[in-house]
Amino acid sequence: LSTIEVDVSAIEEGMSITVKWRGKPVFIRYRTQKEIEEANAVPLEDLKDQAARNANLAPDTPALDVDRSAGEGRENWIVMIGSCTHLGCVPLGQAGDFGGWFCPCHGSHYDTAGRIRSGPAPENLPIPPFEFISDTRIKIG
Ligand code: FES
Repeated sequence: LSTIEVDVSAIEEGMSITVKWRGKPVFIRYRTQKEIEEANAVPLEDLKDQAARNANLAPDTPALDVDRSAGEGRENWIVMIGSCTHLGCVPLGQAGDFGGWFCPCHGSHYDTAGRIRSGPAPENLPIPPFEFISDTRIKIG
């Protein structure tokens, strides 16, 4: 299916689920306040990839936490394609040196906004086209 709808009502703060979209895993995580604060505390110039990589925003949007999240008012939610930007392994959630995701294949560490922070991966985890169609349903694609 080119478009899927996901009910996120059962996801509690700090939890995430993985769904399949166009044959790829998509991570949907309901982040904690602490995770958002950690991501916001990082200066843009410390990031290896300073682009938001968010299909819903202009290509030159910087990788600020809010623009990696589902946006203003929905910063708790982050939706990303779960494919490491190095060679495509599936990163593990709530893991790695930055509390976000860790790719065990060659050791790439992503932060709580899915931004690459160390290891061989060149780019932040990509954000697919998606929107909230209600408070508890996300349409991806
Ligand atoms: Fe993830 Fe190489 S595929 S670090």
